[in-house]
Amino acid sequence: MLADLSDDSHDAAPARPAGPRGGPAQPNPDIPDASTVTVRAPAKINLSLAVLGRRADGYHDLESWVVQLDWCDVVRTSLADRLAISVTGAAGEVPSNDTNLAWRAAVALGRAAGREPTVRINLDKQIPAGGGLGGGSSDAAATLVALDRLWGLNWGAGKLLTLAAGLGSDVPLFLEPAPAILRGRGERIERVATSWQGWVALAVPNFGVSTAEVYRNWRPPADLAAHDQPWTVAVESAADLACHLFNDLERPAFAHEPRLARLHAAIDGLQGRPVRMTGSGSCLFALFDAAAEAEAWCDAARRVVEPTVRWKVTRVISAECP
Ligand code: C5P
Repeated sequence: MLADLSDDSHDAAPARPAGPRGGPAQPNPDIPDASTVTVRAPAKINLSLAVLGRRADGYHDLESWVVQLDWCDVVRTSLADRLAISVTGAAGEVPSNDTNLAWRAAVALGRAAGREPTVRINLDKQIPAGGGLGGGSSDAAATLVALDRLWGLNWGAGKLLTLAAGLGSDVPLFLEPAPAILRGRGERIERVATSWQGWVALAVPNFGVSTAEVYRNWRPPADLAAHDQPWTVAVESAADLACHLFNDLERPAFAHEPRLARLHAAIDGLQGRPVRMTGSGSCLFALFDAAAEAEAWCDAARRVVEPTVRWKVTRVISAECP
Protein backbone atom coordinates (compact mmCIF):
# COMPACT_ATOMS: atom_id res chain seq x y z
CA MET A 1 0.00 0.00 0.00
CA LEU A 2 1.26 3.46 -0.85
CA ALA A 3 1.59 6.19 1.70
CA ASP A 4 -1.93 7.58 1.89
CA LEU A 5 -0.80 11.13 2.43
CA SER A 6 -1.69 12.75 -0.86
CA ASP A 7 -3.60 16.01 -0.73
CA ASP A 8 -4.76 15.48 -4.28
CA SER A 9 -4.56 12.82 -6.95
CA HIS A 10 -4.79 12.66 -10.71
CA ASP A 11 -7.11 9.68 -10.28
CA ALA A 12 -9.52 11.69 -8.20
CA ALA A 13 -9.61 14.79 -10.39
CA PRO A 14 -13.06 15.50 -11.81
CA ALA A 15 -13.42 16.92 -15.34
CA ARG A 16 -12.94 20.65 -15.70
CA PRO A 17 -16.04 22.68 -16.48
CA ALA A 18 -16.42 24.07 -20.01
CA GLY A 19 -15.57 27.76 -20.37
CA PRO A 20 -18.14 30.48 -21.01
CA ARG A 21 -20.06 30.15 -24.29
CA GLY A 22 -18.49 26.77 -25.02
CA GLY A 23 -14.96 28.28 -25.06
CA PRO A 24 -11.86 26.61 -23.60
CA ALA A 25 -12.13 25.20 -20.05
CA GLN A 26 -11.25 27.66 -17.30
CA PRO A 27 -9.01 26.57 -14.39
CA ASN A 28 -11.05 26.15 -11.23
CA PRO A 29 -8.89 26.54 -8.09
CA ASP A 30 -11.25 24.25 -6.15
CA ILE A 31 -10.58 21.29 -8.44
CA PRO A 32 -7.28 19.38 -8.05
CA ASP A 33 -5.00 19.74 -11.06
CA ALA A 34 -5.00 16.49 -13.06
CA SER A 35 -1.28 16.84 -13.74
CA THR A 36 -0.18 17.44 -10.14
CA VAL A 37 0.34 15.03 -7.25
CA THR A 38 1.23 16.27 -3.76
CA VAL A 39 2.56 13.97 -1.02
CA ARG A 40 3.55 14.76 2.56
CA ALA A 41 7.02 13.61 3.59
CA PRO A 42 7.21 13.04 7.38
CA ALA A 43 10.25 13.21 9.65
CA LYS A 44 11.28 10.18 11.76
CA ILE A 45 13.02 9.47 15.02
CA ASN A 46 14.92 6.33 15.98
CA LEU A 47 13.46 5.25 19.32
CA SER A 48 16.26 2.69 19.57
CA LEU A 49 19.33 2.12 17.42
CA ALA A 50 21.68 -0.83 17.90
CA VAL A 51 24.83 -0.98 15.74
CA LEU A 52 25.61 -4.67 15.25
CA GLY A 53 28.90 -4.41 13.37
CA ARG A 54 30.85 -3.00 10.44
CA ARG A 55 30.33 -4.71 7.07
CA ALA A 56 32.71 -5.46 4.24
CA ASP A 57 30.97 -2.82 2.05
CA GLY A 58 31.75 -0.06 4.60
CA TYR A 59 28.18 0.18 5.90
CA HIS A 60 27.09 -0.96 9.36
CA ASP A 61 24.46 -3.55 10.20
CA LEU A 62 21.89 -2.15 12.56
CA GLU A 63 18.63 -2.88 14.26
CA SER A 64 16.53 0.21 14.84
CA TRP A 65 12.97 0.96 15.93
CA VAL A 66 11.69 3.96 14.03
CA VAL A 67 8.50 6.00 14.21
CA GLN A 68 7.42 8.74 11.84
CA LEU A 69 6.31 12.17 13.04
CA ASP A 70 3.57 14.60 12.18
CA TRP A 71 6.21 17.12 11.07
CA CYS A 72 6.42 17.02 7.31
CA ASP A 73 7.95 18.44 4.17
CA VAL A 74 5.50 18.65 1.27
CA VAL A 75 6.56 17.26 -2.12
CA ARG A 76 4.58 18.58 -5.09
CA THR A 77 5.14 17.01 -8.51
CA SER A 78 3.70 18.09 -11.84
CA LEU A 79 4.22 17.21 -15.49
CA ALA A 80 6.71 19.47 -17.28
CA ASP A 81 8.88 19.54 -20.40
CA ARG A 82 12.11 18.94 -18.44
CA LEU A 83 13.24 17.83 -14.98
CA ALA A 84 13.42 20.76 -12.56
CA ILE A 85 13.44 21.05 -8.78
CA SER A 86 12.70 24.03 -6.55
CA VAL A 87 13.02 24.31 -2.79
CA THR A 88 10.87 26.56 -0.63
CA GLY A 89 10.05 26.64 3.07
CA ALA A 90 11.78 27.04 6.39
CA ALA A 91 14.75 24.66 6.19
CA GLY A 92 17.57 26.27 4.18
CA GLU A 93 20.71 24.84 2.56
CA VAL A 94 18.97 22.16 0.50
CA PRO A 95 20.37 21.86 -3.06
CA SER A 96 17.91 22.46 -5.90
CA ASN A 97 19.92 20.45 -8.44
CA ASP A 98 20.88 16.90 -9.40
CA THR A 99 22.57 16.30 -6.02
CA ASN A 100 19.16 16.41 -4.31
CA LEU A 101 17.94 12.89 -3.47
CA ALA A 102 14.46 13.77 -4.79
CA TRP A 103 15.99 14.57 -8.20
CA ARG A 104 17.85 11.25 -8.14
CA ALA A 105 14.58 9.50 -7.21
CA ALA A 106 12.87 10.98 -10.29
CA VAL A 107 15.76 9.93 -12.55
CA ALA A 108 15.84 6.40 -11.06
CA LEU A 109 12.07 5.89 -11.40
CA GLY A 110 12.07 7.32 -14.94
CA ARG A 111 14.85 4.91 -15.94
CA ALA A 112 13.07 1.93 -14.36
CA ALA A 113 9.77 2.88 -16.03
CA GLY A 114 11.43 3.55 -19.41
CA ARG A 115 10.39 7.20 -19.63
CA GLU A 116 12.01 10.63 -19.47
CA PRO A 117 11.66 12.11 -15.96
CA THR A 118 10.22 15.37 -17.27
CA VAL A 119 8.62 16.67 -14.09
CA ARG A 120 8.73 19.75 -11.91
CA ILE A 121 9.32 18.93 -8.24
CA ASN A 122 8.77 21.45 -5.47
CA LEU A 123 10.05 20.60 -2.00
CA ASP A 124 8.42 22.68 0.70
CA LYS A 125 11.03 22.06 3.42
CA GLN A 126 10.21 22.15 7.11
CA ILE A 127 12.48 19.33 8.33
CA PRO A 128 16.07 20.50 8.92
CA ALA A 129 18.88 18.69 7.09
CA GLY A 130 21.65 16.92 9.03
CA GLY A 131 19.46 16.38 12.09
CA GLY A 132 18.90 12.61 11.94
CA LEU A 133 15.22 13.22 11.12
CA GLY A 134 15.42 11.63 7.67
CA GLY A 135 14.03 14.64 5.77
CA GLY A 136 16.05 14.08 2.58
CA SER A 137 15.22 10.36 2.54
CA SER A 138 11.56 11.10 3.19
CA ASP A 139 11.49 13.62 0.32
CA ALA A 140 13.00 10.99 -1.99
CA ALA A 141 10.42 8.37 -0.95
CA ALA A 142 7.59 10.89 -1.35
CA THR A 143 8.90 11.73 -4.83
CA LEU A 144 8.78 8.02 -5.78
CA VAL A 145 5.24 7.69 -4.38
CA ALA A 146 4.09 10.90 -6.12
CA LEU A 147 5.58 10.03 -9.52
CA ASP A 148 4.24 6.46 -9.27
CA ARG A 149 0.79 8.09 -9.24
CA LEU A 150 1.49 11.04 -11.56
CA TRP A 151 2.76 8.69 -14.27
CA GLY A 152 -0.03 6.16 -13.64
CA LEU A 153 2.44 3.34 -12.92
CA ASN A 154 0.70 2.12 -9.75
CA TRP A 155 3.71 0.03 -8.74
CA GLY A 156 3.09 0.51 -5.02
CA ALA A 157 5.52 0.34 -2.11
CA GLY A 158 6.53 -3.28 -2.85
CA LYS A 159 7.87 -2.56 -6.33
CA LEU A 160 9.37 0.81 -5.35
CA LEU A 161 11.36 -0.79 -2.52
CA THR A 162 14.46 -1.78 -4.50
CA LEU A 163 14.69 1.64 -6.15
CA ALA A 164 14.28 3.29 -2.75
CA ALA A 165 17.03 1.18 -1.15
CA GLY A 166 19.39 2.14 -4.00
CA LEU A 167 18.87 5.83 -3.16
CA GLY A 168 19.76 5.61 0.54
CA SER A 169 19.54 3.37 3.61
CA ASP A 170 16.56 5.25 5.12
CA VAL A 171 14.49 5.79 1.96
CA PRO A 172 12.45 2.50 2.01
CA LEU A 173 11.15 3.28 5.50
CA PHE A 174 9.24 6.31 4.17
CA LEU A 175 7.34 4.48 1.43
CA GLU A 176 4.65 3.90 4.05
CA PRO A 177 3.75 6.11 7.03
CA ALA A 178 4.03 3.38 9.66
CA PRO A 179 6.45 2.49 12.51
CA ALA A 180 9.08 -0.10 11.63
CA ILE A 181 12.10 -2.09 12.71
CA LEU A 182 14.99 -1.45 10.32
CA ARG A 183 17.66 -4.08 9.79
CA GLY A 184 20.58 -4.62 7.43
CA ARG A 185 21.97 -1.17 6.65
CA GLY A 186 18.44 0.13 7.23
CA GLU A 187 16.76 -1.07 4.06
CA ARG A 188 15.21 -4.27 5.47
CA ILE A 189 11.90 -3.27 7.01
CA GLU A 190 9.53 -4.99 9.37
CA ARG A 191 6.43 -2.90 10.08
CA VAL A 192 5.38 -3.06 13.73
CA ALA A 193 2.28 -1.85 15.48
CA THR A 194 3.35 0.57 18.20
CA SER A 195 1.07 0.67 21.21
CA TRP A 196 2.48 4.00 22.42
CA GLN A 197 1.61 6.95 20.15
CA GLY A 198 2.38 10.01 22.18
CA TRP A 199 4.20 13.31 21.81
CA VAL A 200 7.80 14.13 21.06
CA ALA A 201 9.76 17.22 22.07
CA LEU A 202 12.68 17.77 19.71
CA ALA A 203 15.79 19.84 20.34
CA VAL A 204 17.05 21.09 16.96
CA PRO A 205 20.62 22.48 17.21
CA ASN A 206 21.82 25.05 14.67
CA PHE A 207 24.47 22.59 13.43
CA GLY A 208 24.18 19.18 11.76
CA VAL A 209 26.51 16.20 11.96
CA SER A 210 27.87 14.01 9.16
CA THR A 211 26.32 10.53 9.22
CA ALA A 212 29.38 9.00 7.56
CA GLU A 213 31.69 10.64 10.15
CA VAL A 214 29.62 9.39 13.10
CA TYR A 215 29.55 5.82 11.77
CA ARG A 216 33.30 6.03 11.11
CA ASN A 217 33.85 6.89 14.79
CA TRP A 218 31.75 3.97 16.06
CA ARG A 219 33.77 1.27 17.87
CA PRO A 220 32.41 -2.16 18.85
CA PRO A 221 31.81 -2.29 22.60
CA ALA A 222 34.04 -4.62 24.63
CA ASP A 223 30.95 -6.50 25.77
CA LEU A 224 28.94 -7.62 22.74
CA ALA A 225 25.92 -8.68 24.81
CA ALA A 226 22.60 -8.99 22.98
CA HIS A 227 20.85 -5.67 22.56
CA ASP A 228 17.44 -5.00 24.06
CA GLN A 229 14.45 -4.93 21.70
CA PRO A 230 12.32 -2.24 23.36
CA TRP A 231 9.41 -2.67 20.91
CA THR A 232 8.72 -6.02 22.60
CA VAL A 233 8.28 -4.42 26.03
CA ALA A 234 4.70 -3.65 27.12
CA VAL A 235 4.56 0.01 28.15
CA GLU A 236 1.74 2.20 29.37
CA SER A 237 3.37 5.61 29.30
CA ALA A 238 6.13 7.67 27.74
CA ALA A 239 8.12 7.45 30.99
CA ASP A 240 7.90 3.62 30.94
CA LEU A 241 9.04 3.54 27.35
CA ALA A 242 11.82 6.12 27.57
CA CYS A 243 13.91 4.15 30.05
CA HIS A 244 14.14 1.23 27.56
CA LEU A 245 15.49 3.37 24.71
CA PHE A 246 19.12 3.68 23.55
CA ASN A 247 21.21 4.79 20.58
CA ASP A 248 24.66 3.27 20.01
CA LEU A 249 25.61 6.24 17.82
CA GLU A 250 25.37 8.73 20.70
CA ARG A 251 28.87 7.98 21.95
CA PRO A 252 30.63 8.52 18.56
CA ALA A 253 28.40 11.52 17.75
CA PHE A 254 29.11 13.21 21.10
CA ALA A 255 32.86 12.54 20.70
CA HIS A 256 32.77 14.00 17.18
CA GLU A 257 30.65 17.05 18.10
CA PRO A 258 31.28 18.31 21.67
CA ARG A 259 28.52 20.93 21.35
CA LEU A 260 26.04 18.04 21.03
CA ALA A 261 27.51 16.31 24.09
CA ARG A 262 27.06 19.54 26.07
CA LEU A 263 23.47 20.00 24.89
CA HIS A 264 22.64 16.40 25.84
CA ALA A 265 24.23 16.78 29.27
CA ALA A 266 22.21 19.96 29.89
CA ILE A 267 18.78 18.48 29.13
CA ASP A 268 19.07 14.73 29.84
CA GLY A 269 17.05 14.00 32.99
CA LEU A 270 15.37 17.41 33.04
CA GLN A 271 12.05 16.89 34.87
CA GLY A 272 13.01 13.21 35.08
CA ARG A 273 12.92 12.69 31.29
CA PRO A 274 15.67 10.68 29.56
CA VAL A 275 16.83 12.38 26.34
CA ARG A 276 17.93 10.35 23.32
CA MET A 277 19.54 11.24 19.97
CA THR A 278 17.79 10.36 16.70
CA GLY A 279 19.81 8.56 13.99
CA SER A 280 23.34 9.90 13.83
CA GLY A 281 22.22 13.27 15.27
CA SER A 282 22.16 16.17 15.68
CA CYS A 283 18.56 16.31 16.96
CA LEU A 284 17.72 15.07 20.47
CA PHE A 285 14.28 14.11 21.78
CA ALA A 286 12.21 13.35 24.86
CA LEU A 287 8.85 11.53 24.95
CA PHE A 288 5.56 12.63 26.54
CA ASP A 289 1.97 11.42 26.82
CA ALA A 290 0.44 14.88 26.31
CA ALA A 291 1.29 17.91 24.20
CA ALA A 292 1.08 20.26 27.21
CA GLU A 293 3.71 18.20 29.08
CA ALA A 294 6.03 18.39 26.07
CA GLU A 295 5.55 22.17 25.77
CA ALA A 296 6.25 22.64 29.49
CA TRP A 297 9.44 20.57 29.19
CA CYS A 298 10.59 22.69 26.22
CA ASP A 299 9.99 25.85 28.30
CA ALA A 300 12.19 24.42 31.07
CA ALA A 301 14.85 23.35 28.56
CA ARG A 302 14.90 26.82 26.97
CA ARG A 303 15.93 28.22 30.34
CA VAL A 304 19.03 25.99 30.58
CA VAL A 305 20.45 26.00 27.04
CA GLU A 306 21.52 28.53 24.44
CA PRO A 307 18.82 30.29 22.40
CA THR A 308 20.42 28.90 19.21
CA VAL A 309 18.63 25.59 19.87
CA ARG A 310 15.11 25.39 18.36
CA TRP A 311 12.35 23.36 20.00
CA LYS A 312 9.59 21.48 18.23
CA VAL A 313 6.67 19.58 19.74
CA THR A 314 5.06 17.03 17.46
CA ARG A 315 3.19 13.76 17.53
CA VAL A 316 3.99 10.19 16.49
CA ILE A 317 1.97 9.05 13.48
CA SER A 318 1.07 5.56 12.39
CA ALA A 319 -0.79 4.09 9.43
CA GLU A 320 -4.02 4.31 11.45
CA CYS A 321 -3.25 7.84 12.60
CA PRO A 322 -2.26 9.99 9.57
O1 C5P B 1 22.87 5.34 3.05
P1 C5P B 1 23.14 6.76 3.44
O2 C5P B 1 23.53 7.60 2.28
O3 C5P B 1 22.06 7.34 4.26
O4 C5P B 1 24.41 6.70 4.43
C1 C5P B 1 25.32 7.76 4.59
C2 C5P B 1 26.63 7.20 5.14
O5 C5P B 1 26.44 6.73 6.46
C3 C5P B 1 27.14 5.99 4.36
O6 C5P B 1 27.95 6.40 3.30
C4 C5P B 1 27.93 5.26 5.43
O7 C5P B 1 29.21 5.84 5.57
C5 C5P B 1 27.17 5.54 6.71
N1 C5P B 1 26.24 4.46 7.04
C6 C5P B 1 26.74 3.28 7.59
N2 C5P B 1 25.86 2.27 7.92
C7 C5P B 1 24.55 2.43 7.73
C8 C5P B 1 24.01 3.62 7.19
C9 C5P B 1 24.90 4.62 6.86
O8 C5P B 1 27.96 3.13 7.76
N3 C5P B 1 23.72 1.43 8.09
